[in-house]
Amino acid sequence: MRTEQPQMIHLKDYQAPDYLIDETHLTFELFEDHTLVHAQLVMRRNPARGEGFPALALDGQQLELLSVKLDDVDLTSADYELTDSHLTLHPSAEQFVVDTSVKIHPESNTALEGLYKSGSMFCTQCEAEGFRKITYYLDRPDVMSTFTTTVVAEQHRYPILLSNGNPLASGPDDDGRHWATWEDPFKKPAYLFALVAGDLWCVEDTFTTMTERTVALRIYVEPENIDKCQHAMNSLKKSMRWDEETYGREYDLDIFMIVAVNDFNMGAMENKGLNIFNSSAVLARAETATDAAHQRVEAIVAHEYFHNWSGNRVTCRDWFQLSLKEGFTVFRDSQFSADMNSRVVKRIQDVAFLRTHQFAEDAGPMAHAVRPESFIEISNFYTLTVYEKGSEVVRMLHTLLGAEGFRKGSDLYFERHDGQAVTCDDFIKAMEDANGADLTQFKRWYSQAGTPRLAVSEHYDAEQKTYCLTFTQSCPQTPDKLEKLPFVIPVELGLLNAQGAELPLQLADESAAVDTCRVLSVTEAEQTFTFVGITEKPLPSLLRGFSAPVKLQFAYSSDQLVFLMQHDTDGFNRWDAGQQLSVQVLQALIGQYQRGETLVMDLRLVEALRSVLTNPELDQAMVAEMLSLPSEAYLTEISEVADVDAIHAAREFARQQLADSLYDELLARYKANRDVSKATPYVAEDEHFARRGLQNIALSYLSLSAKPEVVAATLEQFDHSDNMTERLNALAILVNSPFEAEKAQALASFAEHFKDNPLVMDQWFSVQAASPLPGGLQRVQQLMEHPAFTLKNPNKVRALIGAFAGQNLVNFHAADGSGYRFLADLVIVLNRLNPQIASRQLAPLTRWRKYDSARQALMKAELERIRNSGELSSDVFEVVSKSLA
Ligand code: TRP
Ligand code: ZN
Repeated sequence: MRTEQPQMIHLKDYQAPDYLIDETHLTFELFEDHTLVHAQLVMRRNPARGEGFPALALDGQQLELLSVKLDDVDLTSADYELTDSHLTLHPSAEQFVVDTSVKIHPESNTALEGLYKSGSMFCTQCEAEGFRKITYYLDRPDVMSTFTTTVVAEQHRYPILLSNGNPLASGPDDDGRHWATWEDPFKKPAYLFALVAGDLWCVEDTFTTMTERTVALRIYVEPENIDKCQHAMNSLKKSMRWDEETYGREYDLDIFMIVAVNDFNMGAMENKGLNIFNSSAVLARAETATDAAHQRVEAIVAHEYFHNWSGNRVTCRDWFQLSLKEGFTVFRDSQFSADMNSRVVKRIQDVAFLRTHQFAEDAGPMAHAVRPESFIEISNFYTLTVYEKGSEVVRMLHTLLGAEGFRKGSDLYFERHDGQAVTCDDFIKAMEDANGADLTQFKRWYSQAGTPRLAVSEHYDAEQKTYCLTFTQSCPQTPDKLEKLPFVIPVELGLLNAQGAELPLQLADESAAVDTCRVLSVTEAEQTFTFVGITEKPLPSLLRGFSAPVKLQFAYSSDQLVFLMQHDTDGFNRWDAGQQLSVQVLQALIGQYQRGETLVMDLRLVEALRSVLTNPELDQAMVAEMLSLPSEAYLTEISEVADVDAIHAAREFARQQLADSLYDELLARYKANRDVSKATPYVAEDEHFARRGLQNIALSYLSLSAKPEVVAATLEQFDHSDNMTERLNALAILVNSPFEAEKAQALASFAEHFKDNPLVMDQWFSVQAASPLPGGLQRVQQLMEHPAFTLKNPNKVRALIGAFAGQNLVNFHAADGSGYRFLADLVIVLNRLNPQIASRQLAPLTRWRKYDSARQALMKAELERIRNSGELSSDVFEVVSKSLA
């Protein structure tokens, strides 16, 4: 907790460090009621920072200083200044050595930052600024050092002692204790430091690199989870090969380790050679993890592995550059997932997520640029904007430069900056230099917040055979109040004739057609492109593959969208046409509901989905995606004022209409797929994900009929599936059904069966928390009393509270404000336990501007109550104060 008002930090104030640390030697003595940390820092004056000997302010928080030496001389309190955030020394030589000893308390660290205990195991989380809770240090990413780490602990409780790099030596110590020393030869910032001590088992494998070096691979878990590591190990080996083949990047140490821990604030952390993972991002096997969980494990293992180059070998100069590593690495893991699975489906899922959640962030009080200008608490900036929009920005570079040009740029970037801490500008410069390109205007994507709008209008001249597209871009105001200049917007497009064939594309100043699908660069506020030789009025297919993170506006009629759904050669745009049609249909229903009219479904959507459902040519995963109506959260995001009840009623009505009208087709698909599932052992691969995905969405629709044969099918799937994908879907259907006896029975048997598996219990909490049936808040409050629930575990908080506030919109936004009050109460408690989690759970309340005035008042009142609740962490303080500003 802070003692003063938290301060804003600005990018423009960046200064290189006065001192550097060349070598860091650490010794940890782990005990049950405290830990001793001895640090020896071999330091020197930064030659880039002029003459003289300025004071050396080492970062340190919640440390009990036991002793400090400068060049082997004990210092007394007259020789240094000590505050609750710094230890300031006064060196007087070019080179010197600082020795400190501190006492810390990992056993009572509930913030899960720094050194802490997860169950019986010790582990660390240092990104972004957690290392300062371990020892006094220059805790900033542009100070890079080699590390030697010795861990000493009781042999019996902590047989496994790990840190970064390669193992050097180990041996027994007095009193049943033992020690191990690790050496990391690669210079790294402190945020990549890691230590683990525990009673762990490991799954082992090896990988032979492109230069024939053998790397040992180990995944460490608690003994009961040793049977759930194979999928992560397979994913790791695929990632290592893929990064060699796609980016020419080879792994550099002799060993690569992953450790799974149950208590973790985020998904995983890329510590050099010793990745620490939330167990939810490692453990997966058919019986306990869904297909979605398997795909998440594959993506996160890849993401953290890819950081070894994009993040570790080349790191960030300061935290404003966070997207340098995160945006690039998300882009890399999304390419990897697209290569391993269905490319189009991966793109659909990423775009749906971005449009729903990142667009909402970009339109809210915490909106910030991909490279923010300022922050109070850096932990609040691990955002959808930095990660997901940052990845879209890198993807646009890939689109504009082409795969080959992009690879030349990334090769130059890694070669030029290996071992350095650099900026987003350095990344762009490498892309420019490798391609002879000028990306000056493109860089606005890094500095300007907000989601651009791109309005498109058309004009066809039958006589001249010309077709003009006029693009008008604008970007809404964001809290920074900065002026928005035009972006570079790559628009991939095609023009379709009446048969759905793509026309050759020749611009007015070109001598011949170039292609039938191409990328235009829109760079001005308003810009017209004229296509020549167009003999009939075409239908444009715009922003294919979602080639830029913008809100596209083109006045398609419903019939044109139906046509695109059937004929567009771009799979992504076929799906997107279906989504746009669904939005039109749902918005009409929302209007009818608000006017108190009888709801009438537009049958064009029903018929379009019938033809999707009966098309044997279509990839089943595409069919499943096309059958999924836009979520309530997305409908909220695109509303001026979101009417929670109307959105829910309209969407449920549309689902019921689809279920009734397409019953036979859905049942045929369901039965065929369930029969294959029954006859096939679980395989975590694309075509199997596709089959189960369509099977599950079909069953969800069918269940709306409440027919006995569907209830029987659901119970059959629940009782007899060999995998969590089918079982959990059946459970969710029962939870949302009116069949109270079957529901209670299913929930009880599931909980009994899986009571010892916390990750499965998380799913059990989530399906109940997300159920829109009346009484949602009371159900969640009761579930908080369940023995498997605890506020100290972030996965539990996300599973129950996060699912309720983020997915159960009708219940969370109950008109009496009870959902808001509940969330605020929890944030006040979590603020003391775990500020990072508290601040993340707060997000739904920050969106108050989206709702009617009564709800706005209720939400603001809760934000104010949090603000006045006592001493706030900088995390919660920043979000609350910006939301109320
Ligand atoms: N760098 C991690 C990633 O790969 C993010 C992360 C993990 C993190 N744990 C954290 C960020 C704790 C802040 C706090 O995305
Ligand atoms: Zn990352």
